[in-house]
Amino acid sequence: MTVQSTSPTAMPSDDVVNVTRVRWWLGAAFFWLFAAMLAGLIYSSQYLRMYVFPGIEYLSPGRVRVTHTSGVAFGFLVTSTLGLMEYVIPKLTQRPVLNQKVGWFAFFAWQAILVATVVGYLGFGQMQAIEWGETPVWIDPIVMVALVIVTANNILGPIFQHATKSGKGLYVSLWYFIAAFVWTGVNYFVGNFFPEYWVPGSAGASLTSMYIHDLVGLYVTPVGWGLMYYLVPVVLKKPVFSHNVSLLGFWALAFLYPLNGAHHYLHSPIPMWVQAMSVLASVGVHLVVYTVIYNFWQTLRQGGTDSYTKLPLRWFVAGAVSYLLTCMQCALHVTFTVQEHVHFTDWVVGHAHFVMFGTFSFFVFGFTVYLWPRVCGRTTWHSETANHYAFWLMAVGNLTMWLVLMIAGLIQGQSWKGLEPFTKSVTSSAPYWLARTFTGIAIFVGFSLMFWNMIQTARSREEAEYDPRTIPSPSPA
Ligand code: HEM
Ligand code: HEM
Repeated sequence: MTVQSTSPTAMPSDDVVNVTRVRWWLGAAFFWLFAAMLAGLIYSSQYLRMYVFPGIEYLSPGRVRVTHTSGVAFGFLVTSTLGLMEYVIPKLTQRPVLNQKVGWFAFFAWQAILVATVVGYLGFGQMQAIEWGETPVWIDPIVMVALVIVTANNILGPIFQHATKSGKGLYVSLWYFIAAFVWTGVNYFVGNFFPEYWVPGSAGASLTSMYIHDLVGLYVTPVGWGLMYYLVPVVLKKPVFSHNVSLLGFWALAFLYPLNGAHHYLHSPIPMWVQAMSVLASVGVHLVVYTVIYNFWQTLRQGGTDSYTKLPLRWFVAGAVSYLLTCMQCALHVTFTVQEHVHFTDWVVGHAHFVMFGTFSFFVFGFTVYLWPRVCGRTTWHSETANHYAFWLMAVGNLTMWLVLMIAGLIQGQSWKGLEPFTKSVTSSAPYWLARTFTGIAIFVGFSLMFWNMIQTARSREEAEYDPRTIPSPSPA
């Protein structure tokens, strides 16, 4: 692989970015997160025995839970990262998406898929027993078509043109994006069609474990890190610390992550050698974690105090700290011994939130803080103060939620292992579930503040300092 060692800070500015569409992607993503968080809060009230919509079939807890999990994953993380890549890829390749009309079609098709999914869940109770593949069965083929279109038109098309016509190598972010989309196309097909139609039973379970793992490990993770490798050097106006280390992280991810899936189903009927191999590969995955974090910190060090005074970077720093902490946590729960204590408990729910929200959503927030005024043609946010409050509410809420769920998980595991009556573990968990709802409220208030600020910034009458079609790139380092 040839890598372009040029930092994204050295990219010339131009008007290859369709800023209107980037704005729509981001706006839609924030709307979905608002709705998904609300669903999370509603669902958490079930644990307090105060469910807010008792007896209403359309809003029954099972339907609301899956609306929450699909909402955060597909509604928010996929939608927002597609928007951010529509900014980053043209910037790095100096090429727009292949076809603007198809770009708009992809945007509206994806929104229609999301709406249909929620209607399927809430309105008709249609779901599949595949974790994060719950999408109603008739929507899966449409998602496949949309995925192929977006991959060709928005992602691989411009990158391929750049690689073949410019004669230059590719910056590391682009390698991550290419890999994410090649993997996700295959992964979505295998995870949603094979267990459903061709491979039932525990063999199918191995495939679904790979599906869930690869969705987070081979879509969310590479796209998240690709975005980090773009934005941090741009904001700091310094190049990435080491391109060789970034390559090590990339290839370790490519080789090791796909082998991890079965660690989601340890102590299950999946053959033991498959489970053991997945644990071994997970040990290797920690190499990825530490190389990327090392590169991130070394890059940040060049910026001195900028890393915590500049809000976009502060989001990235908080995200990287969450990543490090949760990966230390997962080094424990990926072992057979610790699994006996924590599987099915809130420990896992804590891990899921800390990384999906605390790391990768924080990266999206950091990028949004940088980009939103620019794509709205504004010089600043409507309120800088609101953004700072939003940061602290979400950062403290996220950390507390993680700690509370981890403790709850250990108590539940201990209770089950001691063969106490199940209800005993439920009563012992009650205070922690209450605390979870409160941390959720803090997160929701913080997020709502940021969302409100986005809307106000977009509506602001401030005269644009520049034409939004020609977003200036920062000057070369
Ligand atoms: C350092 C590497 C990681 C390891 C070793 C690891 C390990 C695990 C394991 C063993 C589980 C299943 C726990 C159980 O059910 O008892 C799990 C669950 C989960 N992980 Fe990770 N994880 C890692 C990184 C990540 C990352 C980067 C993400 C997100 C981008 C993520 C998202 C999730 C989610 C959402 C779940 C809950 C899904 C489920 O119940 O299986 N993990 N992780
Ligand atoms: C308002 C804040 C939030 C609250 C109150 C909340 C609450 C919940 C609840 C109650 C569950 C179900 C846990 C269970 O079945 O035992 C859940 C699951 C989940 N939530 Fe949230 N959530 C919030 C925000 C988020 C955000 C922002 C994300 C990611 C961006 C997220 C990602 C997840 C994931 C991945 C799961 C599945 C965990 C698993 O299966 O192990 N949540 N959430």
